[in-house]
Amino acid sequence: MYIFVTLKKKYNNMNKFLTSSIGRKVVMSLTGFFLIIFLIVHLGINLSLFWGPNAFNSASEFMATNGVIQVMQYILAAGFILHIIQGITLELKNRSSRSVKYVVNKPAENSSFSSRNMIYTGILVLLFLILHLKDFFVQLKFVGIGDLTDYQLVTNLFKNPVYTVIYVIAFILLGVHLSHGFQSAFQSTGANYNKYKACIKNTGIGFSILIAIGFSAIALYFFFN
Ligand code: HEM
Repeated sequence: MYIFVTLKKKYNNMNKFLTSSIGRKVVMSLTGFFLIIFLIVHLGINLSLFWGPNAFNSASEFMATNGVIQVMQYILAAGFILHIIQGITLELKNRSSRSVKYVVNKPAENSSFSSRNMIYTGILVLLFLILHLKDFFVQLKFVGIGDLTDYQLVTNLFKNPVYTVIYVIAFILLGVHLSHGFQSAFQSTGANYNKYKACIKNTGIGFSILIAIGFSAIALYFFFN
């Protein structure tokens, strides 16, 4: 009975924390960090496309069969869902508490374009993600790709100009989202944030540019070749 009461208390405290505004921010930043690591791994694997069919097909085979990766996929899905739900909730809460507009409001001078548009870039990246999962994940895991190899599935997609343009626009939007998201993740969890603020900000911008260029380079290379 005592254990039950203690567990219930812990659960209530946890619930209170996760639904508080600071709790939501911590969830955003922890899931954000996790998604940043996923992006680095995903880009690394995709870059093997430049080494030809064998390299990419082996990497893809490893991802499809490795036990740890299979478990990580569920954690990744949970991370994405939590990040999206908390992001939308935070935005709605901020909007409702901002019902009286400030008299002096010069957003362009007080905040960056990226920070002011996180919800929009986030929603657009989510739309891209749905399309992307349909294109690759669903084909490979559920529908089947017949005689095609994984390499052909990916490179065929980028023969289509409409897809290539949609993908490249999505990568640029992802870069804009990350350029604020990266530093924001450190701000919400990191001790000593102020001391390293400039360094974190610049690293975040560099990282976002690398991610946008890295993914776009793949799409554009296979479109033109
Ligand atoms: C040129 C760019 C990209 C290519 C060629 C690409 C390719 C792929 C492929 C082939 C898969 C299926 C992997 C499998 O199930 O074995 C996949 C899955 C996935 N991709 Fe991408 N991707 C790209 C960019 C992105 C970006 C920018 C994001 C995130 C915003 C993303 C998120 C995902 C997710 C969440 C999955 C499902 C989880 C997984 O299977 O790892 N991808 N991608």
